[in-house]
Amino acid sequence: MEIIETDIAIVGAGGAGLRAAIEVAEADPNVKVLLISKVYPMRSHTCAAEGGAAGVVKDNDTLEYHFNDTVGGGDWLTDQDAVEYFVNEIPKELTRMEHWGCPWSREDSGKVAVRPFGGMKIMRTWFAADKTGFHMLHTLFQTSLKYPTIERLDEYYVTDLMVEDGRVHGVVVMEIRTGKMTLVRAKAVIICSGGAGKIFPFTTNGAIKTGDGMAMAYRAGVPLKDMEFVQYHPTGLPATGILLTEGCRGEGGILVNKDGYRFLQDYGLGPPDPWPRLKAMELGPRDRLSQAFWHEQKKGRTIPSPWGDVMHLDMRHLGEKKINERLPLIRELSRLYAGADPVHELVPVRPVVHYMMGGIHTNIDGATPLAGLYAAGECACVSINGANRLGSNSLGELLVFGARAARNAVDYVKSTEYLNKVKTIQAQAEDAQSRVKALFQSQGTESVPGLRKELNATMEEGCGIYRTEAEIKATCDKVTEIRARYKDVKLEDTSTVFNTDLLQTLELGCMIEVAQTVAVSAFERKESRGAHQRLDYEKRDDVNYLKHSMAHFDPDGDPRIDYLDVVITKSQPAERIYGAGAEGQVV
Ligand code: FUM
Repeated sequence: MEIIETDIAIVGAGGAGLRAAIEVAEADPNVKVLLISKVYPMRSHTCAAEGGAAGVVKDNDTLEYHFNDTVGGGDWLTDQDAVEYFVNEIPKELTRMEHWGCPWSREDSGKVAVRPFGGMKIMRTWFAADKTGFHMLHTLFQTSLKYPTIERLDEYYVTDLMVEDGRVHGVVVMEIRTGKMTLVRAKAVIICSGGAGKIFPFTTNGAIKTGDGMAMAYRAGVPLKDMEFVQYHPTGLPATGILLTEGCRGEGGILVNKDGYRFLQDYGLGPPDPWPRLKAMELGPRDRLSQAFWHEQKKGRTIPSPWGDVMHLDMRHLGEKKINERLPLIRELSRLYAGADPVHELVPVRPVVHYMMGGIHTNIDGATPLAGLYAAGECACVSINGANRLGSNSLGELLVFGARAARNAVDYVKSTEYLNKVKTIQAQAEDAQSRVKALFQSQGTESVPGLRKELNATMEEGCGIYRTEAEIKATCDKVTEIRARYKDVKLEDTSTVFNTDLLQTLELGCMIEVAQTVAVSAFERKESRGAHQRLDYEKRDDVNYLKHSMAHFDPDGDPRIDYLDVVITKSQPAERIYGAGAEGQVV
């Protein structure tokens, strides 16, 4: 097998991966970095982010407000040292993005504009119309091209981490075009491979978000943290799941039920402020809004559609000029995929799986417990999102912690030699290759689409917005069954050229592992907190569950769950209050 050598291999070339690569290049031009991505970088899912990135920039705002919103929004499951670092760094990162060419939207004065976002009690979300991720990704990609030390393998799938002597020493990659496998020897690896929304049937996530990096780290012995916390975004387009950004509500859009009633006022999210002074309700946090939809549905007050029940997003009062200026993509998407022009019509929306709060366990440096392995972005849990991420904190997170993980990886590789066991490493890589080859020989009877469909269905049934013991247990059992049946999967396409059947088979293996950690962690957490709502344990239980769940891999059995203390520095757990009675409600 061919061998490539680099210092730092980065798995994933979306926002976190590109930011990490740039940081490595800037930190030390002698450190080689190889960016490996299963898609061309500009097709990474960061591109789909719409609404913006939160960072304190206005005079009425403070770092403390951003800290408090994030910690409270996360239902006190965030690590507060990480949140403090994050809120301090993000204004610098966003300004750096400006210097690299990111076209932030501006006020008439020329200053950077900000918009309100859910659960942020002050408006602090920087944006580039409603294509923020697209512009950030372009900015990062173009900047990365300046650095000769950044090399790339585009459209290469990473199948395995190489681990020996308690440290990581590279990855095995498969070129998607040819199926050829190569060993990449590296002193450090940074996983920036994004989330795993595709384990659910209805998601804003692109097809590529199959949890590959999470599964790879997990199989290598790194725990996955807080996996039960799956975020539903309240406003996805029915049928496709395409996101309609929270920016729609930030700009003044309102949510109504089948009677045209702003139902959120019934769910402790404040009074119905008239536009243009929306302060709460529609600007509540995502977990609460999605839960309110669920209750409305139970009361029969949602609107039936061919793709399930919906509510209506009303933006008509914003006017065509504002919609065209601030939400042009939303207008286009609504017209194309829902046949509704928001300038004149109500747009149907429903909650949709959007983000995994959990992920690869890292410390505040982005380091995992496995020497030489780092992670950043959605695949990681550092953890600043706790039980519920606030919208517009994730674009910031991938910058801040992409950079921090990279700096620490640089320090690590400078004091580390390549593992001097070439034969062992080659044998490991060949094992990885044999596992892939075995898929071609399989005479099994299970189909990848069939298993994926069953996996999606059971995840929605047992790990949706509200959960019960019996439903979660049924999902745990079903995922265990699917995991066993996966061993009997058969490839339909046995060619080596752009074999998407093979790719999807490998991805499904990852999805199953990740799904199992979600279900088992959800089963074990017998309380309700943030996005994890149990109908059988309705209250938050700080005595027993103010702690991170850690799912450990077992090749033959279910994940083993244990717990880790949450880092609390200055904000003691309290009630989450939005709307009337909430402090700092300045929009
Ligand atoms: O609604 C949105 O634009 C999503 C933003 C986010 O997930 O941070």
